[in-house]
Amino acid sequence: MRPTKNTLFLVFGFLCIYSCTPKKPVDREGFRQEKAARELKRIAPADLMQKGEQLGEEILSATASAYLNTLKRAIVENGISGAIGFCQLSASGIASDLQDSLGVTISRVTDKPRNPVNTLSASDKAIWEAYEYVPENLDGQIQEYDTENLIYTKPITIGSTLCLNCHGRAGSDITPENYSLIKSQYPDDQAINYEVGDFRGMWRILLPKKAVVSKL
Ligand code: HEC
Repeated sequence: MRPTKNTLFLVFGFLCIYSCTPKKPVDREGFRQEKAARELKRIAPADLMQKGEQLGEEILSATASAYLNTLKRAIVENGISGAIGFCQLSASGIASDLQDSLGVTISRVTDKPRNPVNTLSASDKAIWEAYEYVPENLDGQIQEYDTENLIYTKPITIGSTLCLNCHGRAGSDITPENYSLIKSQYPDDQAINYEVGDFRGMWRILLPKKAVVSKL
């Protein structure tokens, strides 16, 4: 049987549709990232830093007051010994909420940690030393951290005698019972012998530039 005009047309049409169908799915993620990068470029670095500083300040003040309120409430309700687990950011829940919603990372770091996870990293050292060099500088600071993140930092001082209950002199400010409780949970504890006004640590908020841009 000779192919009719119609069957030829069908075969040709099929071949055409087949060869014209894209074999690779559209790279939507790549396109999105490229667009985001282009948008980033249009934003002046000074505006990015200014927004980052504002966002860092807002996050810090919300986190610091939630943490302090949680700690104080725990002391009132359970006494010092019952509040030992409450000088933690996770206790207030706010840090993890912000971590989830904005992708920011909030932590406290120090040269004399109680919990070793709070040890200053090599990259934090330069910022830390600048604060140590000018101890009266208690300002928050925004800096570029890497290509994707800004970092907002602020010194933590021993604000009142409340802190000395767990960070003062062991055996006097910290009762022997409370100190042995602390030592049982933190065998390598170094966070003692502070006095009111001492430089105790540093807030450290890692802000993804994308999160800062989304707020502009
Ligand atoms: C009831 C005891 C208690 C009180 C009061 C207390 N802390 Fe703490 N603090 C701890 C414990 C326990 C840790 C370890 C938390 C962890 O595991 O992350 C800690 C950790 C810290 C850290 C993180 C660095 C590190 O050493 O691990 C900083 C900073 C800090 N405290 C500052 C303060 C300040 C400032 C005050 C006063 C407002 C205060 N603390 C009051 C028990 C206390």
